[in-house]
Amino acid sequence: MMNVLVTGCCGYIGSHTCVELLENNYNVIGLDNFSNSKRDVLGKIENIVNKKIKFYEGDMLDKDILNKIFLENKIDLVVDFAAYKSVGDSVAKPIDYYVNNVSSVLTLLQVMKEYNVKNLIFSSSATVYGNPSVLPITEECEVGGTTNPYGTSKLYVEGILKDLYASDNSWNIIIFRYFNPIGAHKSGLIGEEPNGIPANLMPYICKVATGELECLRVFGDDYNTKDGTGVRDYIHIMDLARAHINGIEKLKNSNGGLFIYNLGTGKGYSVMDIIHTFEKVNGLTIKYKVVERRSGDIDSCYADASKALKDLKWSTQYDLADMCRDAYDYVNKIK
Ligand code: WQD
Repeated sequence: MMNVLVTGCCGYIGSHTCVELLENNYNVIGLDNFSNSKRDVLGKIENIVNKKIKFYEGDMLDKDILNKIFLENKIDLVVDFAAYKSVGDSVAKPIDYYVNNVSSVLTLLQVMKEYNVKNLIFSSSATVYGNPSVLPITEECEVGGTTNPYGTSKLYVEGILKDLYASDNSWNIIIFRYFNPIGAHKSGLIGEEPNGIPANLMPYICKVATGELECLRVFGDDYNTKDGTGVRDYIHIMDLARAHINGIEKLKNSNGGLFIYNLGTGKGYSVMDIIHTFEKVNGLTIKYKVVERRSGDIDSCYADASKALKDLKWSTQYDLADMCRDAYDYVNKIK
């Protein structure tokens, strides 16, 4: 059985990927510092799959904890999710973001090199495309022009990985550029639960639906889109998690490479599409008001996901109704 180190294993994407890994008979060694996750997620993952994660609490910036993990376990592959991911926060705290999102990956790569572990899946983001000039976005589209330190931090790490591979072709790396993951595991035990007031659309809608928040602010309705509200490529978290299983299979059959894939559905939905679908599938009304645009937002962003579909033999199984239903089921269970 392969031993997979998952950094940020208790986070939104990390926890759902751990479920998929365990269900596909990988051994999971987890690392998390709980900066944006909760310890009880570990027990929930284990409840879902009835298997244990070998867990280490710590920070990826701490070389000692990484050395301990690699000394105590034969790590075959690393999936790195550990990062701060709030666009707004990153504008206010750029140093924190570059230290946490870039320096920590350098520490990880140093330790991986020392232990001759060169299989890596890195979680990047569609924000590396900046304000796309071409839609749908393919992996060949130009990156750069990022509008916030979060996106820039992901761009920097992608550049580091490209330089690393150029220096040593035995590195075996996948860069996944996530679009907008939403929804939750069908069990309702794990899902998206950001600390404080959510920055992202779906968790905010969910808090309006449960009554924790009073009204959704729609950030602008004067974009160059079908109804004037922002269009994004929303993808079910379980479809996104499953792509990591396909990615590991790809790396198992590769003796070195650097592969980049968009993880989206190829469909763009507006804010109003999300509101209306959420209301329809959950039988409720979401109170909202249109306010001024949020700085840094772009009109539209959606993927051409055909490369991942073809190369990784991956496909998305869930539609927008599933995403809205599962997101609400989760928050209904935890409230
Ligand atoms: C989606 C749409 C908003 C909140 C960011 C990161 C991306 C990824 C997902 C990490 C936009 C509108 C939102 C609200 C609104 N994160 N909106 N009211 O900005 O596309 O992507 O989060 O990987 O990397 O960049 O996601 O959910 O914040 O916004 O009207 O309260 O919803 O304007 O059009 P975004 P989002």
